[in-house]
Amino acid sequence: MPMDITRTAPWQALLAHREQLRSHHLRELFAREPARFEKLSFRLGDFLADFSKQRITPETLGLLTDLARAADVEGWRDRMFAGERINVSEQRAVLHPALRFLGTGPFPSAAKDVMPEVRAVRAQMRQFSERVRSGLWRGYSGEAIRHVVNLGIGGSDLGPKMAARALSAYDHPALHVHFVSNLDGAQLAPLLETLDPRTTLFIVASKTFTTQETLRNAETARDWLLAAAGPENEVAALARHFVAVTAAPAEAGLFGIGHDNIFTMWDWVGGRYSLWSAVGLALALAIGMTQFERLLAGAQALDQHFLKAPLEQNLPVLMGLLGIWNTNFLGAETLAILPYNESLRTLPGYLQQLEMESNGKMVTRSGKPLSCHPNPIVWGEIGINGQHAFFQLLHQGGWLIPSDFIVAATSDYPLPGHNGPLLANCLAQSSALAFGRSEQEARAELELEGWAEAEIAAVLPYKVFAGNQPSTTLMLPRLDPYHLGLLIALYEHKVFVQGVVWGINSFDQWGVELGKKLAGRLLPALEGTPDEGLDASTRGLIAYCRRHGQL
Ligand code: F6P
Repeated sequence: MPMDITRTAPWQALLAHREQLRSHHLRELFAREPARFEKLSFRLGDFLADFSKQRITPETLGLLTDLARAADVEGWRDRMFAGERINVSEQRAVLHPALRFLGTGPFPSAAKDVMPEVRAVRAQMRQFSERVRSGLWRGYSGEAIRHVVNLGIGGSDLGPKMAARALSAYDHPALHVHFVSNLDGAQLAPLLETLDPRTTLFIVASKTFTTQETLRNAETARDWLLAAAGPENEVAALARHFVAVTAAPAEAGLFGIGHDNIFTMWDWVGGRYSLWSAVGLALALAIGMTQFERLLAGAQALDQHFLKAPLEQNLPVLMGLLGIWNTNFLGAETLAILPYNESLRTLPGYLQQLEMESNGKMVTRSGKPLSCHPNPIVWGEIGINGQHAFFQLLHQGGWLIPSDFIVAATSDYPLPGHNGPLLANCLAQSSALAFGRSEQEARAELELEGWAEAEIAAVLPYKVFAGNQPSTTLMLPRLDPYHLGLLIALYEHKVFVQGVVWGINSFDQWGVELGKKLAGRLLPALEGTPDEGLDASTRGLIAYCRRHGQL
């Protein structure tokens, strides 16, 4: 009989503990314990995770790690790293840590070693990226490649796009990488207008090689290339300008991509965990394979920490448990991701897929309904922009909204006078959210500024900030490949820990199937084949599209 985590003694103990903590504001928790930062912030090398602004005490962490033990987080972690088929609904192993394993031995074990094929693809990526970057790889007309376009969506787009933006300071000066995911021609068409087919390379990234959005974009790109190259160059054009990253090489072959241009991935790599595989090829082309391997090294360091650190000091375990505390015990319904570095602007979107596609499920591993809410809604934006948009609601809107503040202490683009104020804003916001401003403090400030009593009374309600909004601050010394790898692996394992505690299989995504099926059914209806089985709303919307749209 699978365990219901909400019926365990640690869960009940946490419910009781919540009642004890309920009346304590973060202001009091800080006042009561001068060493709170030292006790509740953790380091991994020069990476810092500050949990002291969460609504917890050291006792909360003890109770939460009891919960992790009751859920057997360590056992599931070891089963994942041992290559067991923990993705039960698809009967697959979950081995993305193998992709960043840089040791010389086998992984996960001598008996099931996947490393020979992983190393072979890494070597293929190195050779290919060096040839393209050095100009040795030539297009059909003999020119070097200047632009790379990654055609993919979901995990085949978000990871490499996020990392390529994050690491743009490491870019090859003469090779420009672009990402296209949308079926809306408004993404691909204007890009093609700026490109020269003779110097453009397309990567078709699709694990399944069946994804409609990616294949449509790939077909359009292929037509564009072949029209420019002419029939006499057709074979050379495809061979020099199209490569594929896929676990379905036969389908890529049918599309016209030659065997040597196919970079393999495997069914034990989930799409949203695939940045470390050849799905990262666009990134490897942008920053070079040596830097790409620094990204792998950072992720590997986090894997080792996850495997070896005691639960009480284990960063992904603590982060996962704090998310559960906020969601299931304090009642938070969302999590705001607030990176302050411009280079991390697509991180919220990346983490939305990682978190919500992994744990946005109400069914347990054994097919039973979950007895508590799983993943909160993940959203976010560059923090400094959010300050001038939605932070008002975080400060005074009355909702409980935990946030992750993420910032690198140094900038890759050091303009004088920019980084200090950026850091000051980041720290000011998490502090204001935590401590707020009491009526007394607001009054004292106004008195000091010389306001008259009548004016103070009128304005005072607006000047009060409740505070007590929990947040985590993650600080990197700089945004380099190593620390980015570490940060992303931290979130991956955080999601894993949460899935284990909730009893979810974090590695399937059945919820995205229905919409895909319906889209297939609706296209003929949009094109004019009557479909009486459709609901009235969809029929009405189709009628609108047929009247006003271009199909
Ligand atoms: O529709 C969701 C999804 O299956 C994701 O899980 C995946 O990352 C994305 O589509 C793209 O899939 P593929 O790489 O097979 O094209």
